[in-house]
Amino acid sequence: MTTIRLNKYLAECGVASRRKSEELIISGRVSVNNNIVIDLATVVDPKKDEVRLDGEKIQMESKVYFLLNKPKGFITTTSDEKNRPIVTDLINTNIKIFPVGRLDFNTTGLLLLTNDGDFANKLLHPRNKVKRVYHVNLDRPLTVEHKEKLLKGIYLERRKSRFTSVTFLKRNNYKLVEVETEEGRNHFVKNMFSTFEYNVKRLERVRFGSLNIEGLAPGAYKKLNSKQIDEMVNAK
Ligand code: URA
Repeated sequence: MTTIRLNKYLAECGVASRRKSEELIISGRVSVNNNIVIDLATVVDPKKDEVRLDGEKIQMESKVYFLLNKPKGFITTTSDEKNRPIVTDLINTNIKIFPVGRLDFNTTGLLLLTNDGDFANKLLHPRNKVKRVYHVNLDRPLTVEHKEKLLKGIYLERRKSRFTSVTFLKRNNYKLVEVETEEGRNHFVKNMFSTFEYNVKRLERVRFGSLNIEGLAPGAYKKLNSKQIDEMVNAK
């Protein structure tokens, strides 16, 4: 008999992260063999025990990992009350997947989608400093002074914030910039530039950890193989 902690089982089934699964257990929403359990030390045998969340049977699903080139005009969520197009509509699967982090409605580029909560948490945790690279079109040329300040660090939401690199993509166009950051906060790139009153006209994520978007047209996606998944988990 192989048993597993209940919160780990819920996370592995893609219900929520381990932490969030603990909250679900404590709030009395989880039953094992038709008995509500609130003890976080509960263990289950996935082969024998029947686990339910809010009465719905939970099943262990195999893990899936998709790399999408997000087009403009899609919201990074799994549902939208305003009925706007959502990124999960672009992926043909019956498995319940969710995006790893966020890209703004009009931001394009690399977005991962998975049902693996632990994988997502690992990539998004600030401690792991996973690198993101963006191509940015600004409304006016970036000055050397502002470039230096963005690299040295500025205060954003009272936190010291910086790009780890800023490079011009073309020799004679200082409006087109590549930035690298270890930050995943929402609107981070736009907020960094708006500190010096630049408007971001276009934003594309071209790299996340060990993955890049090369060869994938907007709206297209591919499944990651196990080597790419391993590299991503170990990526900085
Ligand atoms: N930073 C932003 O401002 N927007 C994004 O979509 C991603 C990073």
